[in-house]
Amino acid sequence: MLRITVCVSGGGTNLQAIIDQLQAGRLPGVEIAAVISNNRGAYALERAAAAGITGICCSPKDYASREAFNDALLQQLQETGCDLVVLAGFLVAIPPQVVAAYPGRIINIHPALIPSFCGKGYYGLKVHEGALARGVKVTGATVHFVDEGLDSGPIILQKAVEVRDGDTPEVLQRRVMEQAEWILLPEAIRLIAQNRVVIEGRTTRILPESGSGEGADAE
Ligand code: GRF
Repeated sequence: MLRITVCVSGGGTNLQAIIDQLQAGRLPGVEIAAVISNNRGAYALERAAAAGITGICCSPKDYASREAFNDALLQQLQETGCDLVVLAGFLVAIPPQVVAAYPGRIINIHPALIPSFCGKGYYGLKVHEGALARGVKVTGATVHFVDEGLDSGPIILQKAVEVRDGDTPEVLQRRVMEQAEWILLPEAIRLIAQNRVVIEGRTTRILPESGSGEGADAE
């Protein structure tokens, strides 16, 4: 069983996509250990409660220093007993001690085709504002492993989404969510649960489904 802890800050539509896939039986071997939010008012926590999942608030505001918060976040994660940390709209820089404790075991969804519109300052609507300001005709979403850098870890999955004339950041954000994010994030979790994602340096290789015949000995 792959136990995942999902970290959220806001609306939690990506969390919902995972819950929906789980409830539909399309994520065999996966269970959500807990949902952690840095924001007590996050609607994502209500989604967790509605699905009967433990919700935990771990806010920097409740700690005297950033370091104390970072330690607390690591402790909370460890207490959930998870194998994989899933960042689903978590607007907190992941502290080095957390990355070190979960090497190759933290994934993030980013609403652009990395390495475009990623890194410092590119979060939430700002990503889509950047894409529209640059006039790209195609954007999308990326699921990647988290390393010490910002949006710099090995890419697992990407999906392109077209930009249309007249798009606003909000309209584009919604299309990227519907056509890419809500599909890719559960899919990445499914692949990891099936042990099909191999990290090779800065890249990943996706192994074929066992029994699919692909890659099987032709003898
Ligand atoms: C998504 O666009 C995600 O890619 C980004 O933050 C947003 C979170 O949305 N990192 P939600 O909370 O899952 O609705």
